[in-house]
Amino acid sequence: MSMHTEIHLDQAELSEVAAAILALEHSDNALVIRTGKRQQLARSDWSQLLQEQCHLTLDARQYSYDENLVLEPWWEISNQPDKANSYAYSTTPQPFHNDNAWFADPAEINFFVMEKQAVSGGEQLIYPVSRLINDLQALDASLFDDLTTIPVTIRKGGDDFQNLTPIITLEDGGRVYWNYYRTVKTDPHVNDMCERFFAFLKQQEGSSSTYSVRCETGDSLAFNDQRLLHARTAFVAHQPRDRVLYQSMWRLPRRNP
Ligand SMILES: [Fe+2]
Repeated sequence: MSMHTEIHLDQAELSEVAAAILALEHSDNALVIRTGKRQQLARSDWSQLLQEQCHLTLDARQYSYDENLVLEPWWEISNQPDKANSYAYSTTPQPFHNDNAWFADPAEINFFVMEKQAVSGGEQLIYPVSRLINDLQALDASLFDDLTTIPVTIRKGGDDFQNLTPIITLEDGGRVYWNYYRTVKTDPHVNDMCERFFAFLKQQEGSSSTYSVRCETGDSLAFNDQRLLHARTAFVAHQPRDRVLYQSMWRLPRRNP
């Protein structure tokens, strides 16, 4: 006897979701897909939609807990006390960052499935790059100048991949490449800039330029990784894997020149 479950979205719903995902190419807002009281879609169903309806290409590059590069279509982010020194496995707040800052050729679309949300906490905080740029220009013009002109190297793991870039670029609406912990800070000027930007972002948490999204179990979240920063609030967990989030990364269709 077949044990699988099925959920059938009609074609109009699928098309609406696919169009909203593709609109992220030029958007610095997050997209939350609520499943409401429906059964969850399986991750394989989402992969199929992203590939077949959106024509996105999977980027399976992920760094394991011990910082080896592995290829996994879906990456599990969950509280696991034995690995809790890493944000991916902790219950602690995580400061603003991008997921793909260390790739020079990053996938654009991050797609998450909230397999199991925590009983409380675990919200995502979003800081769209357009608001970030406006706030920096208004509040700290010299920091803005440094962030848009000083190249930094961002890397994780060995030397497999790294990204040499200013932290903020302004073409095409702006992009941001930020991971405080993975930016090489041996140069004192770079170190000073990173400390100032980290403090700036901490101060901006909860400002009206940022917003909070709480995914419930079964919901999905998608955004353009380089067009916003995201953070996470702390959450309550009593058992390992009381909160389980899956992440995958997708490239937009290549345009003909
Ligand atoms: Fe992240």
